[in-house]
Amino acid sequence: MNELLKLMQTRRSIRQYTDQALSKQDIDAILSAGLLSPSGKNVKPWEFIVVQDKDVLNKLAEARTGAANMLKQAACAIVVIADTQKTDVWCEDSSITMAYMHLMAHSLGLGSCWIQMRCREAQNGQSSDDYLRNLLDYPRHYSAEAILSVGVPAQQRDAYDLPDVNGGKVHFDKY
Ligand SMILES: Cc1cc2nc3c(=O)[nH]c(=O)nc-3n(C[C@H](O)[C@H](O)[C@H](O)COP(=O)(O)O)c2cc1C
Repeated sequence: MNELLKLMQTRRSIRQYTDQALSKQDIDAILSAGLLSPSGKNVKPWEFIVVQDKDVLNKLAEARTGAANMLKQAACAIVVIADTQKTDVWCEDSSITMAYMHLMAHSLGLGSCWIQMRCREAQNGQSSDDYLRNLLDYPRHYSAEAILSVGVPAQQRDAYDLPDVNGGKVHFDKY
């Protein structure tokens, strides 16, 4: 089977991590995958804030109600923000870069999970974006799309079966 397809079939969202640190080489490889992602008109509106400081990771976990607790265990978080004045497709561009980094983390044997920030609320009632801007100090015309939590996996999840994921989603020539 094609290697990339195999990787895609075994990729899962991993939310439990050991307390092992990540190597600089692995973090660099994940960031390179993000930097190599395509963007509309090649504008690349995104920037990445890499967080490894435990205190900051714990504060990042409060950027969402409920869905971000895995950041307390994660060795690293990559916050994807974008310059919203550069392009009207910053959200699509940021999503693609997230997907590339998520898949690269998996290819390195690491676990990772997308944590949504755009259109979401922090535990203190602020928007997740305002909360993150206060915490991380990025400019007002930047917005956060999502955070990728990354760590050495402490859970195993089943691979997908291609016939199962295909069911009814693909149409040829006509709906
Ligand atoms: C746009 C988007 C937003 C997501 N937001 C969250 C989130 O806030 N918290 C979380 O734990 N998982 C989040 N996920 C992960 C999904 O829950 C996960 O991809 C989905 O359940 C399928 O599982 P899999 O990734 O293992 O295939 C998000 C995924 C995407 C693509």
